[in-house]
Amino acid sequence: MPSLEIKIYPDPVLRKKAAPLQSVGNEERDLMRFMAETMYAGRGIGLAAPQLGISKRIIVADAGEGLVKMVNPEITQDKEMASLEEGCLSLPGKFVDMQRAEKISVSYIDENNNRCVKSFSGLIARVIQHEGDHLNGKLIIDYLPWFKKMFPKKREAPCLQ
Ligand code: NI
Repeated sequence: MPSLEIKIYPDPVLRKKAAPLQSVGNEERDLMRFMAETMYAGRGIGLAAPQLGISKRIIVADAGEGLVKMVNPEITQDKEMASLEEGCLSLPGKFVDMQRAEKISVSYIDENNNRCVKSFSGLIARVIQHEGDHLNGKLIIDYLPWFKKMFPKKREAPCLQ
């Protein structure tokens, strides 16, 4: 899939609600492998399929403890919140201080079509929530007051692969 590249805001695909999958086949496994490669090449720690222009509920993430691949993730958030600055490969140069649940439980389908439920905490929990937002057409700038959207801080955009 060499023609796929990271879609940059305001590409409309980033605003679409992505479609759930019935099952995981070779095509999806190839896509997840390509997503992981693209994520690592862009020095990201998570990527959602809509960021490659594919409006399907698939995410990959690696916050330093190994690669996670999820299809149709359903996230249940714990009450405890934590704050951290987040960036996004689809919003080069933009950073937003984000409040997210510190711990989550995720129900999803893995690459072998197994239904899984797992708990995550810390950075990987944050990344999964960020990617989960992408599947619903939501971006980190949506959490900003309107005036920050109109007048974003100018920062030098990192070079994407
Ligand atoms: Ni993102």
